[in-house]
Amino acid sequence: MDAPIPLARPLLGEAEERAVLEVLRSGQLSLGPRVSEFERRFAARVGAPLACAVSSGTAGLHLALRAVGVGEGDEVLTSPFSFVASANAALYERARPVFADIDPVTLNLDPAAAAAAVGERTRALLPVHIFGYPADMPAFERLAQAHGLAIVEDACEALGAVHADGTAVGGRGHPAVFGFYANKQLTTGEGGMITLADAALKEHIDSERNQGRAPNMGWLDHDRLGFNYRLSDIACALGIAQLARLDEMLAARARVAGLYRQALAGVASSPEGEGLQLPCADRAGDRRGWFVFVVQLPHGVDRDETVRALAAEGIHSKPYLPAIHLMSFYRERFAHREGEFPVCEDVAARSLALPFFPQMTEGQVARVCDSLRARLPGA
Ligand SMILES: Cc1ncc(COP(=O)(O)O)c(C=O)c1O
Repeated sequence: MDAPIPLARPLLGEAEERAVLEVLRSGQLSLGPRVSEFERRFAARVGAPLACAVSSGTAGLHLALRAVGVGEGDEVLTSPFSFVASANAALYERARPVFADIDPVTLNLDPAAAAAAVGERTRALLPVHIFGYPADMPAFERLAQAHGLAIVEDACEALGAVHADGTAVGGRGHPAVFGFYANKQLTTGEGGMITLADAALKEHIDSERNQGRAPNMGWLDHDRLGFNYRLSDIACALGIAQLARLDEMLAARARVAGLYRQALAGVASSPEGEGLQLPCADRAGDRRGWFVFVVQLPHGVDRDETVRALAAEGIHSKPYLPAIHLMSFYRERFAHREGEFPVCEDVAARSLALPFFPQMTEGQVARVCDSLRARLPGA
């Protein structure tokens, strides 16, 4: 059998090795100079005034929601088609994640559905730039303005994405949270970053990530409740090195997406069609930051059987993403049931993430597509 094709694989080289070694040799492994350097460089990259490095995207979402004032009894309006962390972050503060359905083409939270779900307890909007495609932030900003809501963006999957007005995802001023897990566009192994514009919010977040200690406070005193959500200097050094080659890595991902599009052109249908659906093309000036290549199988094709068939040929794929409201914890806690968000449920039932990483070769893409094509009707 041909060599297995993994789902994801980071692109790391000598620059990363050198950067990490330098920190190891310096002896200052945490709370050192790499943290603020990574923050400065990352903020500049997305055009945000400020940034806070944190230990994960999840930690970033938690701190960002706390910073904008989400607390017990509040509702946070978000997408059911996301990684579970975006909804869980509200639960950490005893707030309730309230879902609204998604747009069938972009797969992002539908602003009209979100508007219909705003209620008296809604405190914040938490749009997710799913699969790196920019959420309709101008619409959410209008909604937030009309109802006095805070915004926290889940940009964990969206480094490199750009809105139609030219602002990078993460550069609009309200807190936006990026994730650096090993499958992301940029990785620090585990890690995250909150970009934002408000210096007081940054001070609050910096303190809460470090056990509630104010910037110039002595070792023994803490003036608020905090967490250990710090990112180490080792991780930040890796992040700085990855940031330096971000354009190269994003271009490589876009190249692989182009290869997939070409190879599947003959079997793909339009975004609203009945056949195999590919990730939507960039629309109206919005630009995706390529993270994953997720297709939706035609109705009637058994997704889980497809995963097994690809695996038998050494090709790793994954159902991605399951609907959050139908996960057992969410069903039990909130009595969610099938039928609440039909677009999300239909998309989630058919979604399949194919192998996708910067170093992927034309031959590997061809192998995946041959194998996938063989599972489709008419093959
Ligand atoms: C949409 C989304 N939100 C949140 C997260 C959580 O990020 P992390 O795994 O870094 O905690 C992820 C990443 O896995 C994600 O894809």
